[in-house]
This record gives sequence, C-alpha cells and structure tokens, in this order.
Amino acid sequence: MSPLAVHVTGARPNFPKAAPVLRALAAREPRVRQRLVHTGQHYDERMSEVFFRQLGLPEPDVDLGVGSGSHAQQAAAVMTGLEAVFLEERPDVVVVYGDVNSTVGAALVAAKLQIPVAHVEAGLRSFDRSMPEEVNRVVTDRLSDLLLATSADAVAHLAAEGVPAGRIHLVGNPMIDTLLAHLDAFDAAGARERHGLAGRYAVATLHRPANVDDRADAHALVKTVHAVADQVEVVLPLHPRGRPGLEAAGLEDHPAVRVVDPLGYVEFLGLVRGADVVVTDSGGVQEETTVLNVPCLTLRPNTERPVTITHGTNRLVTREDLPWQVERVLAAGTPAPRVPPLWDGRAGERIAEVLADLLASAPDGGSGVAA
Ligand code: UD1
Ligand code: UDP
Repeated sequence: MSPLAVHVTGARPNFPKAAPVLRALAAREPRVRQRLVHTGQHYDERMSEVFFRQLGLPEPDVDLGVGSGSHAQQAAAVMTGLEAVFLEERPDVVVVYGDVNSTVGAALVAAKLQIPVAHVEAGLRSFDRSMPEEVNRVVTDRLSDLLLATSADAVAHLAAEGVPAGRIHLVGNPMIDTLLAHLDAFDAAGARERHGLAGRYAVATLHRPANVDDRADAHALVKTVHAVADQVEVVLPLHPRGRPGLEAAGLEDHPAVRVVDPLGYVEFLGLVRGADVVVTDSGGVQEETTVLNVPCLTLRPNTERPVTITHGTNRLVTREDLPWQVERVLAAGTPAPRVPPLWDGRAGERIAEVLADLLASAPDGGSGVAA
C-alpha cells in the first residue's frame, strides 16, 4: 500500500494552516494517501464547519468529537481517540498544526507509537509558560521529527534548544497561503454594509484566558474597549470563551460597540481588510493583519510572532495604553507594506516537498507502528 499521511486538526486556527498542506501534498504526490482527523476540540458551526466549507477542506475522515473540558480532559480525550485511529491506520507520518491541545495530544500519541511527527509552525516561542500554548509548543517540538518553521526566529529557537539542523525546515507560513488564495473574496465594502458601519472602525477579537477568564480582567478590558469606542466604532466577533464574562461586564453598554458571533473566515477577513485598526490577542490575526497591511494592536505582554512587529504592522499594547495607541494609529494612517520572508503563498508546496522526502523512505505497507 502507498504511504499514509494523517493530518490532525481540531481548533479554528488549525484549519487555514492545514488546507494548503493537504492540497499541495495531493498535487505533488498523488500516490500518498491522506486522512484528515478533526478532534472536535472546536465544534460550533462558526468555529469549525464554516472553515471546511469556505476553505475547500475535505470532510474529516475521522471526527473524534472530544468537545470542551479542562486541559487534561481535552488532551486525554484527544490522545485516547487518536491512539485507536493510529493503531488502525498505521500512518507513515502524522502532521500536526500550531499550538492547541489537539496538537500536543496528537504529537504525544504518535511519538509513543514511533510514528514520525511533522509540526507545522514549529519553533514559535513567547517564553511565557503561563500561556497554555507555550507548553504545547515546547512539548510538540520536542517530540517532532520534522520541524516546519514560519520564520527565521523560530529556526533560531529550535537550534538553540539543540534540535539538529537537518530536522528544521524554514518553509514560510501556510496560513498566509490560505489568505492569499482567498484575497479576492475578502469584500471590505460588503462587510461594512452588512455591519452597518458608516465611518472609521476597529475590529477586535479577544479570547486569551489572561484577558477574559478572570472577572476583574474582563471588567478592565470592557472599560478599555469602551474608551476605544469613544473614538471609532468597534466590531467584536466574539469567541465563545469570553462572551459570557465580557457581556456580564457590560461590553455592549456602549452605542459604538457591536458584538457579533464568530464570523466565517471570508466574512471575518473582509471586515479586517476594511478596518482602520485591529485589536486582538489572537496569534493568527497578528499574522493576517501584517499581510493585509492593517495596523494591529496586540493586547498581550509578549508575542511568539515577533516577525509581525519587525516585518509587519503589529505592536504589543497594555490595556491602559490601548486607547491612546488607537488614537496614534488613526492619526498615522496606512503603514508602508512589509511582509516577512517566505510569506508568499507557497508554504504548502514547501511543506509538501519535505513530507514527500520523508515518505519516499516509507516502507510499502505503511509504517511498523509500535503497539
Ligand atoms: C483554543 C486554543 C487556543 C486558540 C483558540 C483558538 C488550547 C489550549 N487553546 O482556545 O490556543 O487560540 O482555541 O480559537 O488549545 N467553546 C464553544 N464552542 C466551540 C469551542 C469552544 O462554545 O466550538 C467554548 C467552550 O465553553 C469551551 C471554551 O470555548 O470551554 C474554550 O474552548 P477550548 O477549545 O478549550 O479553548 P479556546 O479558548 O477555544
Ligand atoms: N477568524 C475567523 N472568524 C472570527 C475570528 C477569527 O475566521 O470571527 C480566523 C482568523 O482569520 C484566523 C483564525 O480564525 O484565520 C485565528 O483563530 P483564533 O484567533 O481563534 O486562534 P489563534 O490564532 O489565536 O490561535
């Protein structure tokens, strides 16, 4: 039988990263069989299914339906479900994406079954272990055989951690492949009309535990969002994690604040494309605003994506500084366009090349998965 690649996805940011890899591998190596697993970490139509539809992803071959829970519960459900899948399917490589609980769960199971792991978006570091994603990144990279990096800083981190150079590949950013492939569909004028926006506006996405989980933080965040809304209309497609707390803290008690459900990928990036400023704590949105050349203010003390600051439109801000930073951005106008190296729409092809090299040495009949 021909070699088998299993791709593991589970949460919203995984889908735009996986789509170009699946497509490029199918185009380059038609003999490679591919299976797509959805762990079910995210499950609302607007957090999951809409991406499959809009990005042309195939229906998942397996949906584990793990759902929500504590970190341990979620990772354990992912691991238990994947172990059965990997034992049954005997993949020759497991491809994991980003830094969510599904990613680290998949890497652990594959590594223990002695299946090669390819990590897309390896080497990013915030050096802040209070972020659950940082733990996921470090562990996943430690277990991975192929480390596929989006930027030079990520390569340097992996080298500093002792990863052999032969395993590290600077491939660019597949999330940007997806963005560039759908650029024509991002309809800023349509988004403006749909959301009833008359003048300048900000888009905000907020879901990090450090910003939204604690009651006092949620209140302080609402206060600063209202100070932004004193200057421009603010549209917030709100992640389900923070919604109850932010609404209880009075988020919508301002005439220029519009809270909406999470948007589909195309609708969201249409709205972002026409925005005067984006306020976020998302990882992916820091990258997308850089390529769309929209100023981005990131409400975090650090970022694992510093290239969006050095080569893009991003700036880290505190809650206290956010209102005057918005004022500054609005006065400054459009920044000069800059894009990080290799964020050129061809990362999927480069990843496919690395995977093809690995799979060229896979024995016929699939891997000898250890039971
Ligand atoms: C997860 C990732 C985070 C990523 C984010 C992207 C981890 C540790 N965190 O955070 O890195 O930035 O996804 O969006 O993996 N919920 C729903 N519907 C859904 C999914 C979640 O209502 O479809 C609610 C549930 O109340 C759930 C909460 O959101 O408990 C958090 O979901 P979870 O997947 O645990 O973490 P995220 O905050 O989404
Ligand atoms: N996104 C979306 N609709 C929204 C908010 C975000 O389609 O309402 C997209 C966004 O463009 C990016 C991805 O979701 O492609 C980022 O996911 P998220 O911010 O949830 O996760 P993170 O990148 O922080 O891990």
